[in-house]
Amino acid sequence: MRKQIAMLVAMVAVVGVMGIVGAAAPEVSIKQAMAKIAGKKGGALPKVKGALNAASPDWSEIKKSTKIIADNSAAIVDATPEKGEKANYEKLAAALAANGKALNEAAEKEDATAAKAALGKIGTSCKTCHDAHRGK
Ligand code: HEC
Repeated sequence: MRKQIAMLVAMVAVVGVMGIVGAAAPEVSIKQAMAKIAGKKGGALPKVKGALNAASPDWSEIKKSTKIIADNSAAIVDATPEKGEKANYEKLAAALAANGKALNEAAEKEDATAAKAALGKIGTSCKTCHDAHRGK
């Protein structure tokens, strides 16, 4: 009987911990991901832009930032924006994720030309998505 009670207590504890972990780690919100990707203070995209234009680019720094862009853009493809049609958002978000991935792959290869091309595509995607899906 003691053993069974101990087991039960342990099980309740495990379920409880899982609940806390689940609550503490919600899906990445679009807002959070955008801030990490493009925030003026410490956003990855402004860093990559600056670093790519250097005479001898610091690839290890660039790779850190392009990975943040790739990961965060991939994380919001399934998110639901406050405004606009979800299907349209998904299309634009998938394009952002694809360009983010291309940018990260170019950085991995230390290919500045390809990285700049991907960066250009990302740069022209902001307004279309914001006009359709960014509230306020
Ligand atoms: C696939 C759609 C999409 C693309 C592409 C996109 N954004 Fe956004 N962005 C959003 C949405 C939606 C919000 C509003 C999020 C919210 O407040 O819930 C947002 C919010 C932001 C914010 C505000 C974040 C904050 O802290 O409130 C910034 C900055 C931003 N975007 C920058 C950019 C830049 C720069 C680009 C292009 C390089 C870009 N975004 C491309 C959808 C997009």
